[in-house]
Amino acid sequence: MALRCDLIIRDATIIDGTGTARMRGDVGVTGDRIVAVGDLGAASADREVIATGKVLAPGFIDAHTHDDRAVLCGPECMLCKMSQGVTTVVVGNCGISLSPVRMKTRPIPPLDLLGDESWWTFDSFGDYAARLARDPSPVNTYAMIGHMSLRVEAMGGDVNRAATDREAAHMRDRLAACLAEGASGFSTGLYYPPNMEAPTSEVIAVAEALRKAGGIYVSHMRDEAAYVLDSINETVDIGEAAGVPVVISHHKCSMPENFGRSTETLALIERRRAHHKVDFDVYPYYAGSTVLMPSRVREDVPVKIAWSNPHPEMEGSWLADIARQWNTSQREAAERLLPAGAILFQMDEKDVQRIMQHPLSMIGSDGLPHDRFPHPRLWGCFPKVLGHYSRDLKLFSLETAVHKMTGRVAEVFGMVDRGVIRPGAYADLVIFDPTTVRDRADFDHPTLPADGIEETWINGQSAYIHGQGATPARAGRLVTRGAG
Ligand code: ZN
Ligand code: CU
Repeated sequence: MALRCDLIIRDATIIDGTGTARMRGDVGVTGDRIVAVGDLGAASADREVIATGKVLAPGFIDAHTHDDRAVLCGPECMLCKMSQGVTTVVVGNCGISLSPVRMKTRPIPPLDLLGDESWWTFDSFGDYAARLARDPSPVNTYAMIGHMSLRVEAMGGDVNRAATDREAAHMRDRLAACLAEGASGFSTGLYYPPNMEAPTSEVIAVAEALRKAGGIYVSHMRDEAAYVLDSINETVDIGEAAGVPVVISHHKCSMPENFGRSTETLALIERRRAHHKVDFDVYPYYAGSTVLMPSRVREDVPVKIAWSNPHPEMEGSWLADIARQWNTSQREAAERLLPAGAILFQMDEKDVQRIMQHPLSMIGSDGLPHDRFPHPRLWGCFPKVLGHYSRDLKLFSLETAVHKMTGRVAEVFGMVDRGVIRPGAYADLVIFDPTTVRDRADFDHPTLPADGIEETWINGQSAYIHGQGATPARAGRLVTRGAG
């Protein structure tokens, strides 16, 4: 009997996510899975899509996000990602996760990146997972548990110091419980006050929970500037001590005096990698974004304001212009804007390209979905890599670009049957036009959707259609390490 599918995508240029060369063919989907790949001329389907001249790839896996809350607020909230072809997001990064801690008052920065106290209602990862199951996201969610969230839960308001052994043991037990309830790893943000007060030994004590659960350790390192090499060593040391793989978050060489040092950092990562599994993600921009920290404002690093609660009229303005207008220093202006978020032009484009080109890199947006004037990576990260860096600058092939946002990410995080096109894999798919795909979001117009992304499917359901937007589908699931 001839094969009958729910969906057949015909005559596509298939880039399967493994990094191997493209091939022309058809892909059949039934339920949430890919059931056939090749010449499906004899098969039929309820819906057929002719994709001549278009690329069919696995849906992109955003290796680094702060979408903990965005995945809870429906398809419109995830439009920024689905319109880029993203089908899975890794949440809970940089030490910041929405569980397991409740807040009675506004959380301290950078926890407030995820919202005010009304969002901090999850005592356990199990509660968070139950909410996701009850009220599903359109995209798949893979979750890290954040060190800062654990610290506030264990230490309350008294976090400007190292944890005691007892507190570290408490955090370790909470982390173990979260991992048992479906979280996949542990993230730190040792760069940020007050987490920077945590010595390496505290992190190792908490990370111990990963060993038994087989979790992964992910870090926004203590220093991405002058001491970036020490920080790489510290990060890999922690993973080695816990016996688990390591991901360095949004790898960069920050601040003008460190421009060019990615030759040193990449060489060190390769040396450490010879003995311990370490990978890294990167976003394709020479500016970063986080909460505004007045003590770290520098005259030689331009800053744009992403949000400010007391001065929303300044969102999208340069801090230097605001300081001039207020007739004060940039630092003083920054103080007056708090609480606030910032976009910092602190990297060298050559380092960004060198890091992106390295075979160990994965693409992660680090987009901040609740900023009112966000960094453009939130809407443009993946199409920028496909269009600008792969097609236009020829930094790497389209197959390599896709691999860095699909199969490689699934392999590093241990997502089974995702990030590849083959029979039996989940039907997380994207069709894009390789000749027109490009990011439109920029530092002046940060929320413009990309061009050339035509349709995105998640677990077999159409989730985004170009020109129409997000569909009502909410087919996303919780994805855990070692499982789909
Ligand atoms: Zn970070
Ligand atoms: Cu981040």
